[in-house]
Amino acid sequence: MPVPLIFGHRGASGAFPENTMIAFEEARNAGAAGIELDVQLTKDGQAVVIHDETLQRTTNGTGEVQDFTLAQLKKLDAGSWFATTYSQERIPSLEEVLQWMNRDGNNLRLNIELKNDIIPYDGLEEKVLALIAAYDAEERIILSSFNPDSLKRVRMLNPTIEIGYLIAGVPDLAVETAIRIGADAIHCQTEYALSRYAGKAGQAGLPLRIYTVNRPDVLMRLSEAGVDTVMTDEPGLLKGVPVHHTIRKLF
Ligand code: G3P
Ligand code: CA
Repeated sequence: MPVPLIFGHRGASGAFPENTMIAFEEARNAGAAGIELDVQLTKDGQAVVIHDETLQRTTNGTGEVQDFTLAQLKKLDAGSWFATTYSQERIPSLEEVLQWMNRDGNNLRLNIELKNDIIPYDGLEEKVLALIAAYDAEERIILSSFNPDSLKRVRMLNPTIEIGYLIAGVPDLAVETAIRIGADAIHCQTEYALSRYAGKAGQAGLPLRIYTVNRPDVLMRLSEAGVDTVMTDEPGLLKGVPVHHTIRKLF
């Protein structure tokens, strides 16, 4: 049975400040096959890597990302909230991450989550696709979003880039929606992957990528279920898990 790919969720965010370059580099050091990150749009139209629409949880700033330019955001400390030793970490631009991916020896895949389900950033899809094209990175990228209209727009703009439709919980019509918008995969939580809909997704040719799995026993259960990818805050921990065991009742 194939072993699921391990992606670092917001990088190796269990041990390093999420969505920073050190978290991405440490996910790579831990042996992850890819990383997941989140993008929002700045006041001057730059795609930046930060999970929340607001700054206060993961930086020393306050207010909304969309109200600041990239240059202003670059002055913020994006690491001390996690531990003072990371005070030099900054909010990465998406371009910086793509440059890092193009360095020698880096063959990670990259799942870019378009964070446009709360603020529907005008032009986010075009800007992200243009950056991906500029760095010739399409074959290593998966674009995902909880916003199906945004993914439909991505598909209209680019017929070939890989798209993952993001869902939470166990919605009845996820497979139908994924097909309608031209998605290639469903990004879901463990309960969906273990629900009756997993077989339906498989029959539709839609692999499942699971977020966020930090328990080795759950990884083993998902591996038995045949999922494609597992996103975890702890890529080092899960890389060591033997997944070919017979599972009885784990949870
Ligand atoms: O992309 C999967 C997962 O990251 C979605 O949830 O809140 O961690 O961005 P969240
Ligand atoms: Ca995310």
